Amino acid sequence: MKFFLDTANLDAIRRAVELGMCDGVTTNPTLIAQEMKKHDHLISEIAKIVKGPISVEGDTDTCDGIVKEAKIFKTWAPNVVVKVPMTHEGLKAVRILEKEGIHTNVTLIFSPSQALLAAKAGASYVSPFVGRLDDVSEDGMQLVRDILQIYRNYGFKTQVIVASIRNPNHVVEAAKAGADIATVPADVFAKMWNHPLTDKGLDLFLEDWKKVPKPAPKGGKGKGK
Ligand code: G3P
Repeated sequence: MKFFLDTANLDAIRRAVELGMCDGVTTNPTLIAQEMKKHDHLISEIAKIVKGPISVEGDTDTCDGIVKEAKIFKTWAPNVVVKVPMTHEGLKAVRILEKEGIHTNVTLIFSPSQALLAAKAGASYVSPFVGRLDDVSEDGMQLVRDILQIYRNYGFKTQVIVASIRNPNHVVEAAKAGADIATVPADVFAKMWNHPLTDKGLDLFLEDWKKVPKPAPKGGKGKGK
C-alpha cells in the first residue's frame, strides 16, 4: 500500500519523506490556502522533496479551462497529477489529458457509479472521500470496497486513493480492503504510531534497566554480584 500525504505543509512532508513513508502528496484549495504561499511556488517546493505523484487542483470547471490549467501545472513539476472534479466537463477533460500523457486524479467521488465513469474515462486515479461520507452517516469505507470490486471485475488500471481520512482506523480499513493508496493528513499520520501501551511499556522497561547491575568498566572493578 502506498502512503500519500494529504497536505501542502513542507515541514510535514519533509518529516514523512525522512521516514521513507511518503510515496506522494495530494493537495486541494483548502490545504494550499492554509500555507499562505503562491500556488506554483509551493508545488515546485514540494516537488523538490517528493519524487512520487503530486496531485494539484485548479479553480476552473469547464473542460477547456481544466485542460489549459493542467498544462500550466505540468510546467511546475514533471510529477504533477491533475485533480479533476467528478463532473461531465471533468470527465471530458480526463479523456483529453490522459490521451496527452497527463495523469489525472478524479476528485470528489462519492458513489461507485462515479468511480466507474472515471475509470472508463481513463483516469489514472480516483479519490473517494470516506470521511465526508461518514460525516453524513453513510459508510465511506463501503464505497472504497465497492469501487475496488468493480475495478477488479473488469481489470481497470485506475488506482484508488482513499481520501478524506480522519483517523488511523480509516487507513487500516483502507489497507484491509486492498486500496492502492491512502492519502493521510499529517496529524493522522502522527497518530498512526502512537499507542499508550507502547509508551507505558517503554517507561517500564527503562525503569527496569536501572535495576540491572552495570558491567564493570574496562580494567576496573564492577559492582556486579
Ligand atoms: O484532498 C481531499 C480530501 O482528502 C479532503 O479531506 O478532510 O477535507 O474531507 P477533508
